[in-house]
Order: sequence, then C-alpha cells, then structure tokens
Amino acid sequence: MSTQPKTIGVLTSGGDSPGMNACIRAITRTAVFRDLCVVGYRFGYVGLIAGDSVALNARSVSNIIQRGGTILGSSRCKEFETVEGREKAADVLRRSKVDALLVIGGEGSLNGAREFAVQWDGQIIGIPGTIDNNLGGTDWTIGFFTALETALDSIDKIRDTAEAFDRIFLVEVMGRLAGDIALGVGIAGGAEEILIPEAPDDIETVARRVLEAKRRGKLSYIIVVAEGFCKGGAMEVARRLSEITSLSCTSCVLGHTQRGGSPVAPDRILGTHLGIHAVEAAIDGATGVMVGEVNGAVTLTRFEDLAGRRRVLDPAYWQKLNVILRS
Ligand code: F6P
Repeated sequence: MSTQPKTIGVLTSGGDSPGMNACIRAITRTAVFRDLCVVGYRFGYVGLIAGDSVALNARSVSNIIQRGGTILGSSRCKEFETVEGREKAADVLRRSKVDALLVIGGEGSLNGAREFAVQWDGQIIGIPGTIDNNLGGTDWTIGFFTALETALDSIDKIRDTAEAFDRIFLVEVMGRLAGDIALGVGIAGGAEEILIPEAPDDIETVARRVLEAKRRGKLSYIIVVAEGFCKGGAMEVARRLSEITSLSCTSCVLGHTQRGGSPVAPDRILGTHLGIHAVEAAIDGATGVMVGEVNGAVTLTRFEDLAGRRRVLDPAYWQKLNVILRS
C-alpha cells in the first residue's frame, strides 16, 4: 500500500498555454488544504534539473487565474531527454523529499514524464496543458479554447480587409500535426476552406474551388491552414494558389499570438478542475497517468496509452461541413 505524499512538486513545460496558472493555483490550494507542501520548479524541466524552485502557498497563487503564460515559466529542455539529465532531476527531487511530481504540458513534456519513471520512483502525474488539443485521454487540453478565441478575433479582422479588397487570404494557425485549432476557428470564423493534416487535399483541387467560388461572385475567400497541413504552411499554399489561379493570395501566419492572452473561462475552469483532480489522484496513490476530462467525467489514462493519438475526423461530418463552408 502506498503512503500518502507529503510534498508535491509542480512544473509547466513546453509551449505555455493560457489556463496553466489556473491549474497551478488549484493544485496549490488543494494541496495546502490537504496539509501537503508544494514546490514549484521554474522553467519546466530546466529548473527541475537545476533545483531552481519556489515554495508555493495559497497566497502566492493569488490573483493569477486571469493571467496568460505561466507564473512558473516554461521551456523545452533538451537535457531532460537524456538519461543523465533525468538522473540529475531525480536527485533534486530526492534531496527535496518530493513524493509526487505534477507535470502540466503537452505531448513532449508528458513523454518526458513517462520516461522519468525509470530514474525516479516517486509518483508522476501529467496534466494536459497545450493549445494544440492533440492528446489522447482528454477531450480538451488547457489553453485550446483561448487559442481559438485569439485566432478567431484575427480571422474576423482579416475578413474585413479581405472583403474590402476582394482578396484571398491564407491564415495559418498553430497545432503541430493536429488540425483542431484550424477546424475550430475555421468553423467559427466562417472560413471558405479548412486545410488540415487529418483531411489531406491537393492544391490544384483547392484552386479549382476558389475559381468556381469567384465565378459565383464570392468576394472574400478565407482559407485556414493548419501549420501541419504541408511543408511551408500558408505561405507555400498562397504561392502555389496564386501561381495556378493568377489571383492575388495573401498569407498571414498568426503564430505565437495564439499562445498568449488572458485565458477564457473554459480554460480557467478546465485548469482548475484538472488541478484539483491531479492532487486528489496523487493522494490516492496514482502514478504514471495523465488526468483528463472525457465526456464531462474526470479520467486517468496511463502515459503509454497517450502516445501517437490523433483525432479521427468523421468523413461524413467533414463532407457535410464542407457544404456549409463552400456554399
Ligand atoms: O505546442 C504548442 C505550440 O505552440 C505548437 O502549436 C507549435 O507548433 C509549437 O508550440 C511552437 O513551438 P515554439 O514556441 O517552441 O516555436
């Protein structure tokens, strides 16, 4: 039987996402209420390896729920990908008598957490924090909803100028190999096309549809391109489209704006919800799992069952959706 943890470590890793602060706050306050100590490691695994930590208490997480980014800082840590790096991190945790480590991050960060079990015998619990929404074991990741709103705001603005100039715009959104942001923002922004890795399309066919739409009198034409759709992203699609159609195609990469900003309510709620449950799971002795939300219920999924998950797009739905987009 496992003994209850006394000290919990927490870090944020990889691409920061709005709502991470809500999660840190919930973890800290839940743990303090349950008489546990909380240590925050700064700048993700970099701080863990260096032993760069800060004690967290109920007051130190006041007034952060509305802030974007992460108060702990984040990084992508090459050293943690090595056995030596993970051994150093394990030493730090042993010396600090940390019993359970909570990692808030995306795919790479949770892969690192899974591998860390070889070097460290404490409890490790993952929490999905990434704007990409590309993880298994949860319907939503912390930050996805805010990224959608940010991208949507830009697309609405681009629509104004696209309409005024009778122009074709290619708007690139983030998401790594997942098309979730593109799909969400494309639907909500009334885009004419959504190009995502889950539904490969060739540019000649897209060009035919653009010309056909122009013949039907469409003025603005917005194509949302997921960064993982093709090499070169929106810029390359714009180049090829204008070559084929001889129309003016302008690309716009929304980039890191999508990662920042004050989190919208669903991200604050999800961050809070998952933070509470991660601490409860640690108290119950869980390890090697990610806490998530599936169909409104809290779930624990083993790290090894998260790997390589891609959202499956229902072809029938995709077809119906495209009728609306292109009409
Ligand atoms: O995983 C979050 C994310 O913003 C991805 O959407 C994007 O591909 C990547 O991080 C960008 O990473 P970086 O900020 O290291 O360039």
